Amino acid sequence: MGLLEQIKENAKKQSKTIVLPEGTEERTLLAADQIIGEGIAKIILIGNTDEIKALTEKHQLKNIDKATIIDPQSHAKKEEYADLLVELRKNKGMTKEQALKLVTNPLYLATLMIKSGDADGEVAGAQNATGDVLRPALQIVKTLPGISVVSGAFLLLTDKPEYGENGLIVCADCAVLPDPTAEELAQIAVSTAETARAIAKIEPRVAMLSFSTKGSAKNELVDKVVKATELAKQMAPNVMIDGEMQADAALVPSVGNSKAPNSPVAGKANVLIFPSLEVGNISYKLVQRIAGIEAVGPVLQGMAAPINDLSRGCSVSDIVNLVAITVNQAAAKK
Ligand code: ACO
Repeated sequence: MGLLEQIKENAKKQSKTIVLPEGTEERTLLAADQIIGEGIAKIILIGNTDEIKALTEKHQLKNIDKATIIDPQSHAKKEEYADLLVELRKNKGMTKEQALKLVTNPLYLATLMIKSGDADGEVAGAQNATGDVLRPALQIVKTLPGISVVSGAFLLLTDKPEYGENGLIVCADCAVLPDPTAEELAQIAVSTAETARAIAKIEPRVAMLSFSTKGSAKNELVDKVVKATELAKQMAPNVMIDGEMQADAALVPSVGNSKAPNSPVAGKANVLIFPSLEVGNISYKLVQRIAGIEAVGPVLQGMAAPINDLSRGCSVSDIVNLVAITVNQAAAKK
C-alpha cells in the first residue's frame, strides 16, 4: 500500500471532524462528498445553505446530507464565538463589533470552531491565498507549547528508493516563514521530524542544509545553519539531526561518506531542512515540475491544532488527501 493510501486508511479509524470553510467551492464540495462516503472524516461545511444545496443537486452528490452545514451569516454560535474572539484578541484592541463582523468570515469562523473544540482541524485554500488562510489560524489557534513558529512541510514521493526512506523525503520550510533565525530554523527542524513520525511514520534522520558541508565554506549564512543545528540537537536530543551539509552530502551515501564521514545522517537523510523559505519553496517546485516528483503538502506544522492550506490549483483528490493528512495530524496530537 502506498503512503497516501496508508494515511487514508489510518484516517478512517479516527472519527475526527474537519471543517472546510470554502463550502461553496465546487472541488471542495466534491471532495467532501468523497471524504464522507469513504469515512475519512466527519465534515463541517461553511457556506450559504442554498448555494450548497444547489451544487449538491447539480452534481447529484449522495453524502453531503451527512455533513454539518454552517451558514456564516446566521449560525447559532455567532455571539459565543465573537466573545471568544474578543477574549483572545483584546490585547490587540479587538472590539465586540469587529468580532461580530469577523465571525461571518468563514476563515475566522473555522478557526474559532477549532479553538472551541467543535472541530479537530481545517483544510482551506482552494479559493483563498495562503496568507488569508494562515493569518486567522496564527492569531486564534496559535502554536504548540514550546514552539513559536509555524512552518510548512512537503512529502516528496520519489521513485528512487536509494534516496531518503525508500524514496520518501520530508522537507521544510516550503510555505510559511520567509527568513527564519537560527532559533526558528531549529524549531522548524524539530517540527519536521515530528511530522515525519506522525504522518510519514518514519524515524527521522534530519539534515540541516546549506551550501557548505562541515565547514567547507565560511559565511554568515552557514553560521546560521551551524547554530540552528546545535539548537535543534538540544531541543530534541532523541532525534538524529546533523549539519550543516549540502544536499548531495545529505542524500548520496558516497558523497556523505567523503564529505561528512562521521555523520549519523549524511548520505541517508530522510528529512531535509532548508535554510530559508526562498530555498525551500523554489526547490520543491523545481523537483516537482522538472523531475515529476509527487509533492504532497504543505503540511502545516507547529500549530496547536492541524490547519492545512491548499494550492488554488488543487484537484479534488488533493483536497481528499490533505483532509486525510489533517486527520492523522489531529490523531497524533499529544
Ligand atoms: N509562526 C507562528 N506565528 C506567526 C508566524 C509563524 N510562522 N508568522 C506570523 N505569526 C503570527 C504573528 O506573531 C502574529 O500574531 P499576533 O497577531 O497574535 O501578534 C500573527 O501571526 C499575524 O502576523 P503578521 O506578521 O501580522 O501577519 P502577516 O499577515 O504579515 O504574516 C503570514 C503571516 C501570512 C504567514 C506571512 O508570513 C506570509 O504571507 N508568509 C508567506 C506565505 C506564502 O505566501 N507562502 C508561499 C506560498 S505557499 C506554497 O507555495 C506552498
